[in-house]
Amino acid sequence: QHQTTLSKIPATSSKPIVQHSSASASSTTAEVMSADNIKTEEFKLCDAFFKEIPPHADYDESMARVKSFIQNSNPVQRFVLVTSGGTLIPLERLMVRYIDNFSTGSRGAASTEYFLEAGYKVIFLHRAKSIQPFARNIPPPLETLEWEGVAAWAVSRDSAKVRRILERYAKHKASILYVSFESLGDYLWYLKGISCELNKSIGHRGMVYLAAAVSDFYVPSSEMPEHKIQSDTKPTINLALTPKMIYPLATIWAPKAYIVSFKLETDSEILMEKAQKALKTYRHNMVAANLLTTRKTTVTFVESTGKVARIDNPEETSDIELLMIGFLRDRHSAYLDANS
Ligand code: PMT
Repeated sequence: QHQTTLSKIPATSSKPIVQHSSASASSTTAEVMSADNIKTEEFKLCDAFFKEIPPHADYDESMARVKSFIQNSNPVQRFVLVTSGGTLIPLERLMVRYIDNFSTGSRGAASTEYFLEAGYKVIFLHRAKSIQPFARNIPPPLETLEWEGVAAWAVSRDSAKVRRILERYAKHKASILYVSFESLGDYLWYLKGISCELNKSIGHRGMVYLAAAVSDFYVPSSEMPEHKIQSDTKPTINLALTPKMIYPLATIWAPKAYIVSFKLETDSEILMEKAQKALKTYRHNMVAANLLTTRKTTVTFVESTGKVARIDNPEETSDIELLMIGFLRDRHSAYLDANS
């Protein structure tokens, strides 16, 4: 089922279902002005966060790989930064304990495959050891082996399914760059660095697809103990709010890129309201709204223009990401036309 290429399934085929409607995601002047005051504060908080939390030791080396991946491309090539998996926040400097955010990485890994098939080059910014593109459909325990090991296994078992996955991987492997993170700080440094690089070299042909689940809280450096927290007394952990980075992303780091964020909720009553609020506050292009329990069968896209499109994939005959990426590729094309 994962062999179908995007071009063979129109995003508006009768099954799965894509429904379009209209809703007001545009803002009143008062809303924009009050949001702008909040944003000035957010900018300061973002700067303070980057001053307080240093990048990962591999940051410069990873960014050099990103630059060379982006620069060696033709002038019409589209790129997407896919973020995937959850961030963790350390509770101790010499970390033994941490708080993690839920995300298996399935959404980001599946989306990456369909972006590749749609002709994009992908920077896959993922949580280390989360679900990986292509490997996600290799039967266990093989998904942890190197690709060469999988290839040998597939040949020895004559597994047609694994062979097909390997063929697709071989076709696309030069078009994907892997960058991994674990902590919230590492993730945000890479988000900033890579999106600035996309903006500079790729402009409107770049897309940022924020499927990662990012910690809303963290332990500030000033509050973090050096050593393992001892269990002889009840600990007190003071968490700070993580500054929201979408606004600097959409306005300073990558104002030319087409930016899609995700909104995950567990309560269906507040999902659409939260998605529309995110667009008004951060001024990016699209929010993909999903509920934890139905995220594999229904995703609703809310555009900054006010348009709403619901994608339903009730029978899960193929990945919902196939339809999602078809839809986004078309919206990105319209964005490119509008900005050419
Ligand atoms: O990985 P799976 O198991 O397949 O699950 C996929 C998913 C449900 C995790 C995914 O589809 C999803 O919804 N991801 C977003 C989860 C979420 O709501 O994250 P958030 O509320 O922390 O952030 C919302 C948006 O703001 C995100 O796009 C995030 O990149 C952005 N953000 C968050 C925090 C922060 N400090 N700055 C940000 O810009």
